[in-house]
Amino acid sequence: MDRVPVSLKEKSYEVLIAAGLMQNSGDLLAEAISPCRAAIITDDNVAPIYLNTVRGSLEAAGFRTSALVLPHGEKTKCLDSVARIYAFLSESGITRSDALIALGGGVVGDTGGFASATWLRGVRYVQIPTSLLAQVDSSVGGKTAIDLPQGKNLAGAFHQPSLVLCDPAALETLPEHYWLDGLGEVVKYGAILDEALFALLEETADGGRKAVMENMIGILHHCVACKAEIVSRDEHDNGERMLLNFGHTLGHAVEVCQHYEGLSHGMAVAAGMTAITRWSEQQGLTEPGTSARLTALLDRLGLPTALPALDRASMLHAMSRDKKKGSSGSRIVILDRIGQSRVMTVQEDCLEMLLAGLR
Ligand code: GLY
Repeated sequence: MDRVPVSLKEKSYEVLIAAGLMQNSGDLLAEAISPCRAAIITDDNVAPIYLNTVRGSLEAAGFRTSALVLPHGEKTKCLDSVARIYAFLSESGITRSDALIALGGGVVGDTGGFASATWLRGVRYVQIPTSLLAQVDSSVGGKTAIDLPQGKNLAGAFHQPSLVLCDPAALETLPEHYWLDGLGEVVKYGAILDEALFALLEETADGGRKAVMENMIGILHHCVACKAEIVSRDEHDNGERMLLNFGHTLGHAVEVCQHYEGLSHGMAVAAGMTAITRWSEQQGLTEPGTSARLTALLDRLGLPTALPALDRASMLHAMSRDKKKGSSGSRIVILDRIGQSRVMTVQEDCLEMLLAGLR
């Protein structure tokens, strides 16, 4: 089993990576937190496949479990779901000595994580991510949030899990749409920080999903290790962690302009990474050839490489409202070259020129 430590000032924990971990989740949890009441939050896609396995394993290890099954999908990431979770935690008698288990993809992890950050001013939680996006990114690093009518992830808290169990076997049952969604984030890690990961993806891309899956333990390790390092240096997203936002300023704007009903998050990020890199290379900020290499990989993996045609004023409005905006301007992430990136602060006229240059 692969163990990646996430070493933080106040709370350190491990991300465990191995196929079949879910069957053993009870014993692994018992090593990290002693047996207690465990309230499992999951969704109606994941529950029929994995809930009994995880619940049975936890019970066998001495945990007293209860489970809440929420509807799947981004709409679940809302205040109403948090209210449902609070009612469930109350009925389950969850105290500060107990724990919440988020079993599912990013929506379950973010919403369950947010409920655990605020229930009784904070109880422990464990992430058992079942989607690629959650395994490589959202389950690690303690960002929890829900969406509000005013925007995505607007209410949230930094609350680190006590343990993350990444079981790549769960990806075998992942629908293609969610697979592609996660791949966008995997490419992001290679592009911003890890040329070896990028090269591994280039080697496997033509073999399709099967070839990528054969290398999944290594891929998960690369992504989680990159994230663990960044989060250990910048837990609260004041500097280096913003690199993880590569492709996101444009990607989020696409999601907003399509009312979250067009490209999925990872696919919008893929289109955003291509667009920003084409622009930064034209500006002489990025090593020549980087954009072609990035576009070729995304294309071979079946990810979008162009932004959808959207109204420029609406895109600009969405980009200038991005959460990563600071008082001195908007922060965008650009590649120096594959495997090396930096955060740049730009003004609105620069975003305008960027969007104009994409036409
Ligand atoms: N998903 C980006 C971050 O955790 O900072």
